[in-house]
Amino acid sequence: MRVGVLTGGGDCPGLNAVLRAIVRKGVPAFGHEFVGFRDGWRGVLEADVRPLDIPDVRGLLPRGGTVLGSSRTNPFATDDGVQRIRRSLDDLRVDALIAIGGEDTLGVAARLHDEGLRVVGVPKTIDNDLGGTDYTFGFDTAVSIATEAIDRLHTTAESHHRVLIVEVMGRHAGWIALHAGMAGGANAILIPEQRFSVERVLGWVESRFRDRYASIIVVSEGAMPEGGAEVLQSGRKDAFGHARLGGVGDWLAQQIESRSGREARTTVLGHVQRGGTPTARDRWLATRFGLHAIDAVQAGEWGTMTALRGTDIVTVPLLEATKALKTVDPALYAEAEVFFG
Ligand code: F6P
Repeated sequence: MRVGVLTGGGDCPGLNAVLRAIVRKGVPAFGHEFVGFRDGWRGVLEADVRPLDIPDVRGLLPRGGTVLGSSRTNPFATDDGVQRIRRSLDDLRVDALIAIGGEDTLGVAARLHDEGLRVVGVPKTIDNDLGGTDYTFGFDTAVSIATEAIDRLHTTAESHHRVLIVEVMGRHAGWIALHAGMAGGANAILIPEQRFSVERVLGWVESRFRDRYASIIVVSEGAMPEGGAEVLQSGRKDAFGHARLGGVGDWLAQQIESRSGREARTTVLGHVQRGGTPTARDRWLATRFGLHAIDAVQAGEWGTMTALRGTDIVTVPLLEATKALKTVDPALYAEAEVFFG
């Protein structure tokens, strides 16, 4: 079989490890040939490919990012997208596709499968919020990076008697904040699943200052104060009266400074969380996903994706990933609250 492989959406540590595993098993075990589509669905639409054979995946295991490149192109955004994909697969004699991506990429894969294309998916996101799988690769790396940052911020918080806010990724789910916040000993963790009260945060800060004279707050980029987005937008002016851009972390620092008189600073970790080499655990998970994805192709399990269940890798319908996001359960969040304040 000639198999096309693509990586779509935001990059994520472990993508290259998946590519390596697919090729390292698929060539010798099943005699497949591979082509790599450049930049996600854009490469499929435009028949833009690069070689993907055993020599091309040498040395990829510890490399972050994706050698195939990535994009957020959605073929369903244009009327003739499906036709163009069919034409490109015919021209390149590609029999099947492996799509490695998050909600959007796998959503496209599911729709293409409905159109009769032979597609297998591999779930990826540092956010860990895809349904159908216990964990996605990239998450462990992001949590490790965020935890190291929190560890380093403790010393400045203590030396300067400051409130230090760490804003981590997670638009819809607080998995990174929860795991890194617990691992890093945060005094408060704010996640998108539960609106937070600034009064309560101020209470935690004060109780912390009575004790250790420093406070670390971890906040997901998607966390919302009570009152929602309107509250977040209101009164965001700098000293010159200009509207202030910036995320919830900046907003919270401003609130804490103006309402408690304590010095507060925000560190936004941003794409640092997605960069660089994957942890051993992410390499392991990405490698196993790659091995099982090529097995699924060989078995003709079209319309499925690999998933981690406990310690087993299984295949589940692609729709499992996209039908509902996996968010933090309130009971799990309540466990962390023991450490707040
Ligand atoms: O979904 C992964 C993610 O890293 C989110 O946590 C983040 O909000 C988003 O991607 C950022 O996307 P971009 O790199 O396109 O700005």
